[in-house]
Amino acid sequence: MKKYILNNGVEIPGIGFGTWRIPGGEDSLKATLEAIEVGYRHIDTAALYETEESVGKAVRACGIPRDELFVTSKVWLDDRGYDKAMKACEASLKALNMDYIDLYLIHWPSYTQYDSDWRAVNNGTWRALEHFYKQGVFRAIGVCNCMPHHIEAIMEDNEIKPSVNQIEFHPCYPQLAAAEFCHNNDILVEAWRPLGKGLILDMPQLKAIADKYGKTTAQVCMRWCLQHDTLPIVKTTHKERMISNVDIWDFELTAEEMAYIDTFPPISWSGQHPDFVNLSGKTARS
Ligand SMILES: NC(=O)c1ccc[n+]([C@@H]2O[C@H](COP(=O)([O-])OP(=O)(O)OC[C@H]3O[C@@H](n4cnc5c(N)ncnc54)[C@H](OP(=O)(O)O)[C@@H]3O)[C@@H](O)[C@H]2O)c1
Repeated sequence: MKKYILNNGVEIPGIGFGTWRIPGGEDSLKATLEAIEVGYRHIDTAALYETEESVGKAVRACGIPRDELFVTSKVWLDDRGYDKAMKACEASLKALNMDYIDLYLIHWPSYTQYDSDWRAVNNGTWRALEHFYKQGVFRAIGVCNCMPHHIEAIMEDNEIKPSVNQIEFHPCYPQLAAAEFCHNNDILVEAWRPLGKGLILDMPQLKAIADKYGKTTAQVCMRWCLQHDTLPIVKTTHKERMISNVDIWDFELTAEEMAYIDTFPPISWSGQHPDFVNLSGKTARS
């Protein structure tokens, strides 16, 4: 499995297993255990997903040493601002039942179009994450769904720079400008929804490329993410798909194929842009 090195020197396994929309409890425990069994070493959870507890149980039960696994969690938008974020960080540690978390992220920045104090709110949340980072409780900290102006504001106003920006990134929504900004600032881009939530896998254009290499369209999507130097976070509850989705090391997309895929229409875009979306409350799930 490819590895990346974050801007603070921490090593991160190059593909993550996503747990969003896997029901918490037995289902996510089983899926996470299976993912670890077949070779995933990087698990992505969030307070919103209600999978922190089962991810924590899987990490303890799987038989792999804790320091060979990488666990990410996130503070949800109900808990923005310093005081609430401090409590949310504690709650994540408790739910995971861990004394440290490898990577902790702000799940969504405050909305620039709706919150006049978005910059101050994001700074408050960020300072809570910095607090746990400085204590060594979070090995790295970062953001999700941020545009360059969000990250610039955090970098200008705070001490520690984000190590990661986890954004929607797939063939039908390649946020190349946001990714380029991150790459130029040594911030790792994680690609959420690398398969376009499974909705793009029947596209004939992808199928033609997959057939050329004898691969699946899902494998082409994963390979495209990696060749854009992003770290895909992929979800499936099927063991055979967990295995095949990461079987992507025996082919390489050409520059022409990469550029062609970059032009695909936004047919499975979530519709969520951090400047215009207003997700409010725990029920507004991305
Ligand atoms: N930071 C954020 O705001 C944010 C937002 C969304 C997601 N995420 C993270 O990113 C992860 C992945 O995103 P996602 O779950 O939305 O989308 P995704 O990984 O692109 O796609 C998952 C969907 O594709 C299906 N699938 C997986 N492998 C397949 C294959 N080989 N063939 C056919 N279908 C396949 C899965 O169904 P089965 O399970 O039935 O196989 C599931 O319905 C999430 O779990 C979460 O950890 C983060």
